[in-house]
Amino acid sequence: MHIDILTLFPQMFQGPFSLGIFKRAIDRKLVSINIHNIRDYTHDKHHTVDDYAYGGGAGMVLKPEPIFEAVESIKSKPGADELPIILLTPQGRLFSQQIALELSKYRHVILICGHYEGVDERVREHLVTDEVSIGDYVLSGGELAAMVVVDAVVRLLPGVLGSEASLLDNSHVTGLLEYPQYTRPAVYRGWSVPEVLLSGNHTQIAKWRREQAIQRTLKRRPELLDKANLSLEERQLVDRLRDCLSTSPPLSPSPFKERGKSGIEGASPLQTSLDE
Ligand code: ADE
Repeated sequence: MHIDILTLFPQMFQGPFSLGIFKRAIDRKLVSINIHNIRDYTHDKHHTVDDYAYGGGAGMVLKPEPIFEAVESIKSKPGADELPIILLTPQGRLFSQQIALELSKYRHVILICGHYEGVDERVREHLVTDEVSIGDYVLSGGELAAMVVVDAVVRLLPGVLGSEASLLDNSHVTGLLEYPQYTRPAVYRGWSVPEVLLSGNHTQIAKWRREQAIQRTLKRRPELLDKANLSLEERQLVDRLRDCLSTSPPLSPSPFKERGKSGIEGASPLQTSLDE
């Protein structure tokens, strides 16, 4: 896959893309990433990339010409005809694992990092094919958002992660949050790893993990369960847990965890007790 990123701050990408999975994927030629400085596509002495907003108002707006010219120069290269041109902006559709998967299927993607008060509307209307937001908050530019998108996409490319299986269990890939993970030691400061994980019984381990994933999703992101692919038995489990939740006292408004109170997540579904 080839990714072109248009930005006013190319230096921001130097660190992240030269480490970890990015470096490995680039070294193995599974992905190539080109960073383009939008300023390089200006023609005036001062390399002007922004200007005042017509109609007044605070803040500057990114000019259309350098962005159009940068994209056109990239697209003029062979093999770059039908490709997504994505503007990173808080006004875009909310990024998700599903969108990462969609993008990972393309051979070539262009990402444009917005800045300042916005981008001239003609870029939206006549150049980009999609607009993506990484969340309902405003960053000072699209660069961090582009890194998030690239990270989520690159790790989906075949051969990038060590084990393809590790992709399948991850949070959001199954439609559920991931089950709890443990490594050695089996007992740390008196806190033990759940017995079942030490049992060597892979059927029981898979069952426990699935139940934990369902319970965790119900507790933290219940809306995800509506779309998750659950068996009839699992749907019944969810209904039972929901009943328990609806009869338990309301959760504390504090966003911080109350340590030691495991709630539905710590317990086996059959022994779940919600009267904390
Ligand atoms: N640029 C500024 N804020 C953003 C966001 N939340 N997502 C994508 N791009 C952005």
